[in-house]
Formats: sequence, C-alpha cells, structure tokens
Amino acid sequence: MNIRKVIIPVAGWGTRSLPASKNIPKEMLPIYKKPVVQYVVEEAMRGGIKDVVFITNRDKNAIEDHFDYNLQLEAVLERGGKTKLLEEIRAVAEMVNVISIRQKRQLGLGHAVLCAREAVAGDDAFGIMVGDDLIFGENAGLSQLLDITRATGLPTVGVMEVPRDKVNRYGIVAGKETSPGIYEVSQLVEKPDIDKAPSNLAIVGRYVLTPELFDFLAAGKPGHGGEIQLTDAMQELCTAKGMIAVKMNGVRFDAGDWVDYLTANIYFALQDEDLREGLRARLQKLLHA
Ligand code: UTP
Repeated sequence: MNIRKVIIPVAGWGTRSLPASKNIPKEMLPIYKKPVVQYVVEEAMRGGIKDVVFITNRDKNAIEDHFDYNLQLEAVLERGGKTKLLEEIRAVAEMVNVISIRQKRQLGLGHAVLCAREAVAGDDAFGIMVGDDLIFGENAGLSQLLDITRATGLPTVGVMEVPRDKVNRYGIVAGKETSPGIYEVSQLVEKPDIDKAPSNLAIVGRYVLTPELFDFLAAGKPGHGGEIQLTDAMQELCTAKGMIAVKMNGVRFDAGDWVDYLTANIYFALQDEDLREGLRARLQKLLHA
C-alpha cells in the first residue's frame, strides 16, 4: 500500500502554552535544542515519509520557514567557519518536501484534517501526526502504524494507557486485543465522562487513515466542544472498514502540557554528554533545596 504523505495540523491557538505562544507558534517552542515540530517531522522521516502537509494559520509561517533554507544565515556561518552548525541547519531545510495549507477558521482537529483533502487525493492512505505530541523510543510512533497499514490495508491509530481519572481529556478507543498491544477497534469516543469511558486506551496523536475518512469528515456535524471531531469521523470509518489500534512503544510528551514540556527538555538534555553532569548537579540542588 502506497503511503507517501503525513498531515501535521498546527493551526490551533495553543492557549495552554500562553504567554510563550502569544507570537511564536507553540510548535516552534524549543525542546532542548530543536523546535517541537522538528521532532515530529523526524519521526515521520523514520517511517520513510518525505512529503509533509502542514495545516497552518496566518501566524504560523515560522514553521514552514524552519524547513527551508536561510541563505543569509548560511553565509554568516560559512564566513565564520562554523561548518558543523552550517551543515545542521542545511540538513533541516532538506528533510522533507513541505505542502502548506491554511485552515482559515479554527473549527477543530477534524476540520484541520479535512483541509488536506486535495493534498492527499489519490493516495491509498496517509498519516496524521498531531503537531505537539512527541513520541520517542526504539521503533516507537508512526512507523509502528505504517508497518501494519502497509501490510493489511486497514486504518490504524496509536494508543497508550492513561490513568482512569484522565480519560476525559482524550479520544478513547475500545476493542478486542488480538495480539499483545494490537486491538481490533469497536468503538471510539471523544473525551468521555470518566464513568462512561469504555476503556483507558487513549489516542495519542498518531494515525494512518484511508481516504474514505474525508467523506465522513465533510458530512460530520460539530461534536464535543462544538468542534468537528476527528474521532467522530474515525468511528464511522471504523464501522465501514474496520480499524486497528496499536499500543505505542516508548515515551510520550504532550508539548502543550507544561509538566510534559519541561520534562521533555530535561529528557533530551540528559542524553547530551556535554550537558548531563552539569544539569544533574543543578537539578539535584534544586530538588533538595
Ligand atoms: P489542541 O487540542 O492541542 O488545541 O489541538 P490547540 O488549540 O492547539 O491548543 P490549546 O489546547 O488551546 O493549548 C490538537 C492539534 O490540532 C491542531 C493543533 O494545532 C494541535 O496540533 N488544531 C486544533 C488545528 O490544526 N486546528 C484546529 O482548529 C484545532
């Protein structure tokens, strides 16, 4: 099955990240040395994807600029002999082909995905990666889904178990576990009440879906929170075609959540040999103060 593109919606307001995100897209806030969205694009590349469709708004130009050349900066680095940095920033411009589409009104994640309809037309299936959800680890994230959709032709969705008292913050999936960590999905609900949730398997911003989705999105009525919900259209896709949920390996950070955002910074910095010792010492002092 031919899967060449991922849709990365980045058009949301990012209110949880204010005031940092007042004039900078929350997807451009740094985690360790890179902006949030670069980690997402690198994960897509690990799955063999070369074309990225960003769903943006008028204030998000910095995101597509990040994946383009900056010739003036390159000239300055070249003159200064900063070859390693020069290579690094050029490599970012060469990571993926970028298609950029404006979501002119922020009507929800489902509506954002619908804006990509023409851009992925003709493809057998396509990925969707929520632009502020980060997943790391051995064989973790989008590539787990790509493997299964490529082999079966079925839509897939990434899930992780969350504490019972947090199910009302997520799209929740119910289904039969057919092999360890693989579920045949029977039901999807967006942000259910805690006592009504059919499970604690939460959707974590990774999907590989098929084009029938767009018909369900286009016909969809506003759901939870008055927004056009991706989860509602996925329920219809699941009924029509079947769907597989896959437990994501590795660790996940929601960059829109401050505890996760700050932890992700420390997680990456601790992997940098130049920073590790100094950071550990400072953290230990802070924790024991
Ligand atoms: P979030 O639920 O994180 O919403 O959206 P948000 O508006 O970005 O952030 P908060 O909650 O106000 O802090 C999940 C993903 O869907 C995108 C967001 O950019 C994010 O990647 N999104 C959401 C859109 O592209 N368009 C929308 O209308 C809504």
